[in-house]
Amino acid sequence: MIIAFAQQKGGAGKTTVLAHLAHAWGLAGRSVGLVDLDTQRSLSMWAQAQTVLEVECVESAGWRAGSDIKDLARKCEVTLIDCPGNASNLLEASLRESDLVILPCQPSMLDAWATAPVLEMATREKTPARVLLNRVPPRGGLVDEVRTALGESGAALLDTTLGNRVAFAAGLARGTTALGLGRTSRATQEVQALRTEIEALLNA
Ligand SMILES: Nc1ncnc2c1ncn2[C@@H]1O[C@H](COP(=O)(O)OP(=O)(O)OP(=O)(O)O)[C@@H](O)[C@H]1O
Ligand SMILES: [Mg+2]
Repeated sequence: MIIAFAQQKGGAGKTTVLAHLAHAWGLAGRSVGLVDLDTQRSLSMWAQAQTVLEVECVESAGWRAGSDIKDLARKCEVTLIDCPGNASNLLEASLRESDLVILPCQPSMLDAWATAPVLEMATREKTPARVLLNRVPPRGGLVDEVRTALGESGAALLDTTLGNRVAFAAGLARGTTALGLGRTSRATQEVQALRTEIEALLNA
């Protein structure tokens, strides 16, 4: 299973969601590999700082990306790719190698509009794409408006959404994820629901 996390709008939650799913699959006994294509190297920094997961994290760029993804995917059951923000050849290459691309999207119209370039690229590469609503507040009609607008534009959404929860940030800050903070939290339940939904989607 190769899954890319991409969204042009910065700060949508790509690295956070990816790290949480990596932890979830690790806990489920799957071997997990990470590919960091973002020049900020946030994922690599977390991978190095964390102490909960045995994971290989490859920093890649440019023409090497496609073969780096394939090499890692040969060794790991689950390969997760943190994509660069801009619509580049690098992003295109990573979508081409992926079974699924997930676009984290905060519930705002600006974020929703920013999904278009990656969705179009995924269509060109024939890679299934799903928008994941992230940082969803407990209540608010805006979420429904964003959901409707995305649906009308032809985007497919995951049923699972992630709430705006301190645990998602606190986990990464403490060398783990929300799944390692000790108690079964709403954040943990949401991540496990997301993992289950993705597995069902990919028949994995
Ligand atoms: N569900 C959430 N609840 C609370 N905070 C969140 C959630 N998801 C992400 N964040 C916070 O939002 C910020 C941006 O998240 P993150 O860095 O994962 O996004 P990104 O898409 O990888 O950003 P970049 O474009 O810079 O790579 C971080 O401070 C992170 O802790
Ligand atoms: Mg990031």
